[in-house]
Amino acid sequence: MATALVTGASSGIGEAFALRLAERGHDLVVVARRADRLAALAERIGREHRRTVEVVEADLTTPDGLARVTQRCADPDRPLDLLVNNAGHGTLGRFWELPVAGEVASVALNVTALVECTHASLGPMVARGRGGVINVSSLGAYQPLPMNATYGATKAFVSSFTNSIAEELRGTGVRAMVVAPGFTRTEFQAESFSPGNVPDFVWQSADAVAATALRAYDRGRVVCITGVVNVVTAAASSVMPAAVTRRVTGAVTRRIY
Ligand SMILES: NC(=O)c1ccc[n+]([C@@H]2O[C@H](COP(=O)([O-])OP(=O)(O)OC[C@H]3O[C@@H](n4cnc5c(N)ncnc54)[C@H](OP(=O)(O)O)[C@@H]3O)[C@@H](O)[C@H]2O)c1
Repeated sequence: MATALVTGASSGIGEAFALRLAERGHDLVVVARRADRLAALAERIGREHRRTVEVVEADLTTPDGLARVTQRCADPDRPLDLLVNNAGHGTLGRFWELPVAGEVASVALNVTALVECTHASLGPMVARGRGGVINVSSLGAYQPLPMNATYGATKAFVSSFTNSIAEELRGTGVRAMVVAPGFTRTEFQAESFSPGNVPDFVWQSADAVAATALRAYDRGRVVCITGVVNVVTAAASSVMPAAVTRRVTGAVTRRIY
């Protein structure tokens, strides 16, 4: 039976990944800080999909929490077939006015934990000649993100890093894919960002993001930008110089946040 580990599975896109993977017949290892939410998800998956769910309560920004998750990723007796690095955090505001602890925590979660979990998983996967990693980045990776400066930079890291290791993995039987969602209705948007003026057609559901990502993974894609609006936005951002995109994004973020 295939086993997938999903970080940040207690809500939003991670929870949607866990449910979609259970529906496809995966057993799950679910990671987050809110153990009650993970327990409820495990109960639901057991009831609806008859799959086994292992709950790992861990704060991925702490040495102890991260060590427990990386040990599970590398466990030779219980190998993973898929790692979904989804847990992520961002702040909103002018960088120098924000408490630096929140900026450092974003880097610890979005970058350091993702790198460590990927590293711990890939060794055993390559040795077995099968497996894969899906890293959740953001449309924000495609241009500078004034007002989310640290967050945007961490997601640019995730996109570059995943593209590079996908190429290094060629011929090993193991794959890596990066997912870049745009505006997705989750607690992340509702609680952290509270964007007021984003038109309805731009938004996606967490389930649509997870379903699109898994279809792309099945097709062997390395990059999955979810949704037509996001594909067009990323393409435009990729061809425009940073001098233009940072001004445009700055004007947009000043309007919507
Ligand atoms: N929503 C969007 O518009 C959007 C757009 C682009 C990319 N994304 C990315 O999608 C991913 C999922 O976000 P979401 O929108 O689904 O938001 P969400 O509902 O807030 O989910 C974030 C998940 O990360 C977990 N998490 C946060 N801090 C953690 C920590 N220190 N240790 C372990 N787990 C932690 C949370 O669980 P606990 O609080 O229980 O720990 C939660 O399960 C993130 O990487 C985000 O950057 C989101």
